[in-house]
Amino acid sequence: MSDSVRLVEVGPRDGLQNESKSIPAAVKIELIERLVACGLCSVEATSFVSPKWVPQLADAADVFAGIRKQVGVRYPVLVPNLQGLERALAVGVEEVAIFAAASEAFSQRNINASIAESLQRFEPIMHRARVAGVAVRGYVSTVLGCPYQGEVALNDVVRVAKYLYQAGCYEISLGDTIGVGTPRRARTMLNAVASEIPMTALAVHFHDTWGQAIANIHACLEAGVRVVDSAVAGLGGCPYAAGASGNVASEDVVYLLDGLGMSHGIDASALARTGEWISTQLGRASSSKAGRALLARQSPAVD
Ligand code: HMG
Ligand code: MG
Repeated sequence: MSDSVRLVEVGPRDGLQNESKSIPAAVKIELIERLVACGLCSVEATSFVSPKWVPQLADAADVFAGIRKQVGVRYPVLVPNLQGLERALAVGVEEVAIFAAASEAFSQRNINASIAESLQRFEPIMHRARVAGVAVRGYVSTVLGCPYQGEVALNDVVRVAKYLYQAGCYEISLGDTIGVGTPRRARTMLNAVASEIPMTALAVHFHDTWGQAIANIHACLEAGVRVVDSAVAGLGGCPYAAGASGNVASEDVVYLLDGLGMSHGIDASALARTGEWISTQLGRASSSKAGRALLARQSPAVD
């Protein structure tokens, strides 16, 4: 099994979608460019969702158009419907992500549609994306618990993931949207999905609400997953998931991978500085313990 792990950086999207402070497009663009300079080769840039639902990302077109794109780097964006896809195509997006949930209650709150309606809605998106030559990634949210209905049946996670994969998504990201999972449950969930979809087409997406994200990722790496979503400085949350806190910090995942001897291609120091920089822009401390420790080691405090 390969020892190389691909990180999908979701901070500019999953992180900034939830910020109460308004962030200028220029800062978002600089964040994305800094992340790419750290060695990240997949950076989720923004969302072409309804600005009435997520006003924080109403500048999606300006942000995407403003990025100085690097060859070999993917800049996926979220699209909830055909309208979002058309807006994304108009600014030259080459990869999109569609998002469904395994929980009926969360689906309603997040996209105002039942799971079945959302899957139907994806059909014309997949068709249009195929015609446009655009790659599609799929998310399944609330795979280990839902803020509105509590328990989520494993069968529903597998069913929705399989649907997205069979519809043509090249990769399925399994999201613990509210960060309630623990390692054994995370591994059981991953293995259940992997019994229907190749492990090489799966990614894990953990939020760190209960402090279990790194342990969950470790368990999933041991089970064979090699794609991990994370956000610099632990930015993140979902505006439609009450109580959800940040994504697992990219700096913490890099430290874990280094400790496991797994390759990732990311400059840990540059990433820690980027985490510090965006946290300063947001007026708060970074949530990454590894990032803070690394920077403290590099410039020890003088008594
Ligand atoms: P709706 O209100 O049912 O949609 O929302 P609608 O079709 O009735 O449209 C309402 C208005 O929005 C209309 O404008 C549309 O034109 C406009 P009006 O006529 O009233 O002026 N509109 C749009 N405008 C721009 N771009 C669009 C668009 N679509 C409609 N794409 C909808 C349905 C799906 C649009 C809405 O619920 C929505 O945008 N939801 C997005 C919510 C969201 O972004 N959640 C966070 C992302 S998911 C997440 O974070 C989880 C994840 O990280 C994984 C994990 O952690 O598990 C991925
Ligand atoms: Mg998320």
